[in-house]
Amino acid sequence: MTELDKLLASCLSEIEKCDNLKKMDSIRSVIFGKNGRITQIMDRLRGLDKEGKRKLGAEINVVKNEITRQLDLKHSRLELKELNKKLGSEFVDVSAPARHRSFGRIHPLTKVSEEIANILSSFGFVCADGPDLENEYYNFTALNMPDHHPARTMHDTFYVNVPSSEKGRNLLRTHTSPIQIHAMLANTPPHRFFSIGRVYRSDSDATHTPMFTQVEGLVVEKNVGFAHLKWIITNFLKKFFAVKDLSIRLRPSFFPFTEPSAEVDVSYGIKDGEMVFGCGDKWLEICGCGVVHPNVLRHGNVDADKYQGLAFGFGVERLTSLKYGISDLREYFESDDRWRNTFGFQHVS
Ligand code: DAH
Repeated sequence: MTELDKLLASCLSEIEKCDNLKKMDSIRSVIFGKNGRITQIMDRLRGLDKEGKRKLGAEINVVKNEITRQLDLKHSRLELKELNKKLGSEFVDVSAPARHRSFGRIHPLTKVSEEIANILSSFGFVCADGPDLENEYYNFTALNMPDHHPARTMHDTFYVNVPSSEKGRNLLRTHTSPIQIHAMLANTPPHRFFSIGRVYRSDSDATHTPMFTQVEGLVVEKNVGFAHLKWIITNFLKKFFAVKDLSIRLRPSFFPFTEPSAEVDVSYGIKDGEMVFGCGDKWLEICGCGVVHPNVLRHGNVDADKYQGLAFGFGVERLTSLKYGISDLREYFESDDRWRNTFGFQHVS
């Protein structure tokens, strides 16, 4: 038996005996490491002539290849053995109840905005938009509230400290009515727009928040009048509250941008301590509306001799509170998880 045969036999028997992966690593380095057994034999090549080198080199290679093959084979066997051991000791209880994961909730205002948009779209209204950061021209002047008009003081306006332009001081819009002007200017009549957006007023208590949400509706067509406005509002409310019958009452009022103007009351009754719409003999104020003032139409580039306008404005929080029984307005914006879990809506996938 040559020295190489002996080396091969002893290496293979060590590999054979080895029973864990850690030991495998040390066996590998004892054989192939810097001062390993194969490395030592390879050192001998240096002292040989060309023919000797070729012969011994070839023999060493055969031994090396065999040892490497056996090492790899054993390595994968041991790996499999350890994996099986691990799988045997750990187990997954597939019958255990799944852990609860919260996917968040849909905010009531988001839900109601969607409901409103769906109803108005079904009446042929198209969604319009405008900036939250407005100026005096669009928020007041174009809506028939010239400089120093007393109606400007009805809105507690947040003025914004950036340089004024020829359109006056900059401000956070106090209502969505300026969108009427933007929408009319960007399109040619007839118009049928609605808009849902945030508005801002310096006011805060249980029934007022500095930011709230309004829906604005605008119709500009030939031969339209108050009867159409009444139909739109009544049928909007019927669909919104999902009732067959519902009465509204129009009370004369004042808005600078409509003439005549009215405030709309909706009928309701109390059943088991809860407000029910569509029955009863009580009235609740729900929105403002009117026939658009000719000056407003002119500011929207509409010929006021040919067209009439109808407009209405609702508070989205108020509609939401009435439909879903939410009493304190401030809670809409406080991001309290308990509130959201009570009043929020589940995602439907
Ligand atoms: N912009 C009014 C407000 O914020 C609401 C309103 C009233 C809008 C009458 C209208 C309207 O379009 O016709 O108080």
